[in-house]
Amino acid sequence: MKNNILFSNSLEFSPLEEELREYAKLNNVPIIQDEGLAMLEMVIRLYKPKNILEIGTAIGYSAIRMAKVCNSNVYTIERNELMENEAIKNVSKANLSNNIHLIFKDALEAYDLVSNVEFDMIFIDAAKAQYMKFFNLYTPLLKKGGVVVCDNMAFHGLVELINDEKAYMEQSRSVRGLIRKMAAFHDELLKNDDYYTSLFEVGDGIAISVKK
Ligand SMILES: C[S@@+](CC[C@H](N)C(=O)[O-])C[C@H]1O[C@@H](n2cnc3c(N)ncnc32)[C@H](O)[C@@H]1O
Repeated sequence: MKNNILFSNSLEFSPLEEELREYAKLNNVPIIQDEGLAMLEMVIRLYKPKNILEIGTAIGYSAIRMAKVCNSNVYTIERNELMENEAIKNVSKANLSNNIHLIFKDALEAYDLVSNVEFDMIFIDAAKAQYMKFFNLYTPLLKKGGVVVCDNMAFHGLVELINDEKAYMEQSRSVRGLIRKMAAFHDELLKNDDYYTSLFEVGDGIAISVKK
């Protein structure tokens, strides 16, 4: 993916965040890329969401960054126990336990745990095959004018292979399934009349949708 941010002075990292970046690199934890992060944080800076829902906490890196921009409350859902334990440790080290609410559950089963909250923003960054389900399940909790940000819309550049039959057929069956699901999610998002959606070639592909 080409670099579309020409300049950003917002990507400064605390020693703890540097540690998380290093941990992610060493342990193959797919945290948000810098370009996507710069865009996500810019949305938060402009929109100043009070309540953010994140699907896919991993080690808490993006939750920590999001909570710090405007002191938002971040409700974040993770199903992997190892990731969740890292996130608990990291959120506490960042002194953000009052802002960041960690929910250890499969996001497809966690609706009741957050259904009493009205969200200003939803950040979807979990299993690629389930984006449509996450979107349909949680956007009823998004207020009018609220924003949905989806990361990894390019699925590491693989989504575009849907238009290149030879390259597509060279992928494994499971990757082809993921490509099809992500491409279908692109189409659904862009067809959805209840949202204004733009898809940006930034980081691993970021979609921003605003509820009408
Ligand atoms: C890309 S990582 C999240 C990275 C994180 N947002 C960041 O940028 O720091 C995706 C995470 O979502 C979790 N995940 C995937 N599917 C999920 C689901 N259905 N419910 C909850 N967590 C899920 C994975 O275990 C993984 O830790």
